[in-house]
Amino acid sequence: MFFTPGTHKEQGLLYSPLKALISPRPIGWISSMSADGVANLSPYSFFNAIAELPPMVMFISAPDARTENKNGEKDSLANILETKEFGVNIVGMHQAEPMATSSQAVGADIDEFAHAGLEKKKAHKISVPLVDGAPAHLECTYYDHITLPDNGRGANSVMVMGHIVGIHIEEDIIIDGLIDVTRYQPVARLGYKDYANIRDVFAMSP
Ligand SMILES: Cc1cc2nc3c(=O)[nH]c(=O)nc-3n(C[C@H](O)[C@H](O)[C@H](O)COP(=O)(O)O)c2cc1C
Repeated sequence: MFFTPGTHKEQGLLYSPLKALISPRPIGWISSMSADGVANLSPYSFFNAIAELPPMVMFISAPDARTENKNGEKDSLANILETKEFGVNIVGMHQAEPMATSSQAVGADIDEFAHAGLEKKKAHKISVPLVDGAPAHLECTYYDHITLPDNGRGANSVMVMGHIVGIHIEEDIIIDGLIDVTRYQPVARLGYKDYANIRDVFAMSP
């Protein structure tokens, strides 16, 4: 099968296969805070580390479909552009459900930690709260953003990039000086409504 993006239905595919093909994707569980102090938490799977030195991450905010948000920005993006800080919380299998709950579209005035039944952990270098109980956290400061081309419907996704300025790791996921991901089983995003969790790890030498 070969086709041009956007013509998948003509091939008998129910949905765009892109997210199923480019998988598994890590989930950046992004915490942020509005200028008036409302905490926000949402998962982003168009997310990754983009450099080790300097340590940097990025995520992509798609246009917000909610009508009350006039400028089309999701709350995380609006908060980060305003306050220039965010947290990345690593999603372990034990927090898969609250992670999914935190993706629900709620008003910008709602504390999404409370909405998802989560407690806050204080960050060291940023004023944004982190998810208590997550196996690791990255404290980030805004670096820059890039507006992607028009999505064909008059709206744009935005790539947000940030510097990692602090790293928290729970002691019980460190074994002999190495991070053991099987201790928390990172949750990854596949296509459709599917997820995976990392349980089987193998090593290879080049
Ligand atoms: C696992 C998962 C991954 C997601 N990845 C993205 C993403 O990469 N970009 C995006 O714009 N929305 C993504 N979403 C949807 C957002 O989490 C959702 O729109 C959320 O309500 C945004 O909240 P906010 O307005 O508080 O930032 C994802 C949802 C889930 C459950």
